[in-house]
Amino acid sequence: MTAAEALDDAVRRRLARFAEEGVMARLWDADTSLWKPGDDAHQRVVARSLGWLSVFRDVRPELGELEAFAADVRGAGFRQAVLLGMGGSSLAPEVLSRIFGSAPGWLDLAVLDSTDPGAVLDLAERLDLGRTLFIVASKSGTTVEPLSFFKFFYNRTAEALGARAAGAHFLAVTDPGSLLAGQAEEHGFRAALLNDPNIGGRYSVLSYFGLAPAAMMGLTVERLMDRAEAAASACGPERAGADNPGLYLGAIMGQAALSGRDKLTLVASDRLAPFGDWLEQLIAESTGKESKGILPVVGEPLGPAKAYGPDRLFVQLKLAGQEAGDRALAGLEEAGQPVVRLELKDAYDLGGQFFLWELATAVAGRLLAINPFDQPDVEAAKVLARQSLAEYARKGQLPEQKPVLVEAGLSLFGQAAGASLREALQAFLAQAEPGAYLALQAYLPPRPETEAALQAVRLRLRDRLKLATTLGFGPRFLHSTGQLHKGDAGRGLFIQLTADQPRDAPIPDEIGSTASSVSFGVLETAQALGDGQALAQAGRRVIRLHLGAEVGRGLRRLKEALP
Ligand code: PA5
Repeated sequence: MTAAEALDDAVRRRLARFAEEGVMARLWDADTSLWKPGDDAHQRVVARSLGWLSVFRDVRPELGELEAFAADVRGAGFRQAVLLGMGGSSLAPEVLSRIFGSAPGWLDLAVLDSTDPGAVLDLAERLDLGRTLFIVASKSGTTVEPLSFFKFFYNRTAEALGARAAGAHFLAVTDPGSLLAGQAEEHGFRAALLNDPNIGGRYSVLSYFGLAPAAMMGLTVERLMDRAEAAASACGPERAGADNPGLYLGAIMGQAALSGRDKLTLVASDRLAPFGDWLEQLIAESTGKESKGILPVVGEPLGPAKAYGPDRLFVQLKLAGQEAGDRALAGLEEAGQPVVRLELKDAYDLGGQFFLWELATAVAGRLLAINPFDQPDVEAAKVLARQSLAEYARKGQLPEQKPVLVEAGLSLFGQAAGASLREALQAFLAQAEPGAYLALQAYLPPRPETEAALQAVRLRLRDRLKLATTLGFGPRFLHSTGQLHKGDAGRGLFIQLTADQPRDAPIPDEIGSTASSVSFGVLETAQALGDGQALAQAGRRVIRLHLGAEVGRGLRRLKEALP
């Protein structure tokens, strides 16, 4: 029996058990005991997290008003929307914007989810503030990044247009009663869209968090919801077996992970590739905890069968008429690797995919016996970020770190030793056992040329080490795979990449004041150092390579130094 056949067998048995346990009917009944039964604290979190199952009933009636609001914004002359948010509050809008683009005459959408001062200033410099609407999106309303972006852009807008006009350029999407909801009122925002508080960040795409930015871009949100609702019907409570696509996918994901195939490798048609970023967050943040987890591998080009160990599950996401690694996947399947295939008839089918994967992830969570709706390590990172800022404001400096090696302008920090960079990297990477993975965490401006250079490094590592590799820009990934990095079984090896910040931008202490005790550069550095420390404390293997003044040159040298 091939590995794929064995997995298929295990999935069928699992589905039979699910049917006996009445999983589907209980899920649609919002039965919290499907996850962590008997644990009161978890039960309370789950009870507050199942609103994504009732969005069709609760959110749909609001769509007409939402579209009218978007038309009003457009009519008022706005041409650009900028979404300020992290993780579950930003990834869906970003994916929709990269896959659909804006309809003619509607607002272009840019997403800011980086504290890198280069990224903040690059964006600030290209905005026509008079025609820009800022969407401050934060469920909790207390996340440090969106609040910092808000203060920075509000002050700039007030400076350019006058304090009285500034508020009308801001829209909040948040939970009722949050700090941000209060700020929206205080500063006269154009509107505050108050979301259902029973929907968690990464499950919020089909609520205001995904739909408001979609409406601003001129997408037909009704159509997106139609497709989502069709997927939900296909996953209905009466379908208790393999005929339920969400249940089936969740059973495969969970069962594969239990048998060691815990690297879900997404292969998407070019146009759908950005969907991977949303999916990565959903899966990693939902499952990466209690020393378990499914590692989503996205954006890793396909290699030949010999590039992979027995720890992969491949998922093809194909747009009808486009290819998505078809030949290579056929070869992998022949070599015994399991491959799941999903096809979309057009881009609006993404509505269905969003729902399908939410449901599958919830099912996989049950199978792994975890709570797929909490994110303890992300919350811990948020607290750490607020603490480091407070400490910086008090002391005026960040903790000093001494490099273990300096070579050709590159400095190496952390658990590494060797006479040269090559030797140190070799020793670090030699710790990778079968089933390990390598995560590149880039606290760098997320520019296309940087991403291309990082991809080249990643591919070299994958091919040399035969390891699954991931790549994330910091601090964005802290609200996504960051949960899994610290919460999973601990087989990851982490390379943090930092660089000099040639420019910096102050974060205003308060709205309307120029006083600033912390800059974006400091925040980004504090986030890198803080997460490095959190990884090390969780027993993870982590090094940091500071690339110096030139990111491109630094990455070339890193590639040359790789074993
Ligand atoms: O899924 C999650 O809970 C997280 O990724 C959050 O969406 C992210 O941390 C942003 O949180 P908030 O919307 O509260 O600012």
